[in-house]
Amino acid sequence: MDKIRVRGGKQLQGILHVSGAKNAVLPAMAASLLTSEPIVLENSPQVRDVSTMIRVLQRMGALEPQREGSRLTLRVPKIASAEAPYELVKTMRASVLVLGPLLARCGEARVSLPGGCAIGARPVNLHIMALQKLGARIEVEHGYMVAEGRELKGADISFDSKTVTGTENLMMAATRAQGRTVLRNVAQEPEIEDLAELLNRMGAKVSGAGTEIIVIDGVDELHGAVHPVIPDRIEAGTFLMAAAITRSAVKVENCRPNHLDAVLEKLRDVGVRMEVGPSAIQVVPDGPLRPGNLVTLPYPGFPTDLQAQYMALATQAGGSSLITESIFENRFMHVGELRRMGAHIDIDAHFAVVHGPTPLTGAQVMATDLRASASLIVAGLLAEGETIIDRAYHIDRGYERIEEKLQKVGADIQRIH
Ligand code: EPZ
Repeated sequence: MDKIRVRGGKQLQGILHVSGAKNAVLPAMAASLLTSEPIVLENSPQVRDVSTMIRVLQRMGALEPQREGSRLTLRVPKIASAEAPYELVKTMRASVLVLGPLLARCGEARVSLPGGCAIGARPVNLHIMALQKLGARIEVEHGYMVAEGRELKGADISFDSKTVTGTENLMMAATRAQGRTVLRNVAQEPEIEDLAELLNRMGAKVSGAGTEIIVIDGVDELHGAVHPVIPDRIEAGTFLMAAAITRSAVKVENCRPNHLDAVLEKLRDVGVRMEVGPSAIQVVPDGPLRPGNLVTLPYPGFPTDLQAQYMALATQAGGSSLITESIFENRFMHVGELRRMGAHIDIDAHFAVVHGPTPLTGAQVMATDLRASASLIVAGLLAEGETIIDRAYHIDRGYERIEEKLQKVGADIQRIH
């Protein structure tokens, strides 16, 4: 099993290029199930979750995908099997995103329930509730959601709470339902807007994505399309934290700063100086870091997927920062590992108090999930000595060649096979 070794204490310099967004390309790939024509996804990241989604789609009848660099072409001429098996879904919860498109395309689906994961129970009751409102019959049997819905009908649906993939599943299911669907209290993440853009390129009628109400007028057929996937705002945020913690003059390029408003505001509040352009953010090393309280929230609030990386940064602030994780009930797995590196953090349920500044020292640590592993790299870049991060496969799920990118700006980081 691969490990990542980081020798810290070096200032970084240069340009960090951001790849396409994992959480935008996965629903876009699922959308290829909605038509028999080719879907071309440009700026598609080469991360492990993309490979897993390809295997899920191939199980359903997708042809061998074509890949030219970051250009990925998918085609599902016909649905050979409407089943997403447990052995794939358990490795990537986002596989649940095939449920809506399968129902829309062939009126049936058998999708393994994702089960819990390191960061929380993560039920899919909201997905099921909303699809049932479109007229689908969904039973849970032997760990699978068995769904049937040959004539989905548009409906007015309110989500009890915001769900990103739940919103995406319903958008895709409603594109070919009869009549109008109105989705209320939906998630507003940029990845949702990006999916709506792709669906409209395929001939769908989706409006309001990015707001709290999305309206979809069903159509009979969808066709092929070419779509540029948005840059990964979480990768961009991770790079900003890496530059800030090492006091480095790094430019984060090919990103969308307007997708990072809450993150940039928080970083400025704690003393990180940045020059922001239309598609790049230049970090300018400056004075000491200040403490800053943080609450993770649905977009446009501060993303939970950057909480762990921010926590690593807060270990260097001149005082205590209170971090409240309001999205997932178990997203502090990185705290134990950061403490092994010398961090002083108290946790109580959803709350963590990070006391700083504390000198970090390299240690052997364990990655527990994707973003926790990113926070250990951020901490390792500053820590005195060597940090060995075990279970590096977690990082590969959502970061494209992260150690090569960081090496380019002078980081002493390697993969140990
Ligand atoms: C998406 O997960 C992202 N994944 C996650 O990124 C991200 O952390 C999360 O949104 C929140 O921003 C993808 O886009 C593939 P939710 P998702 O449904 O859609 C509860 C990463 O690191 N809930 O918005 O699964 C749920 O338990 C990953 O890249 C229900 O109770 O998240 C959570 O507490 C991790 N019932 C909250 O809502 C439901 O049916 C938000 O979850 C659905 C969700």
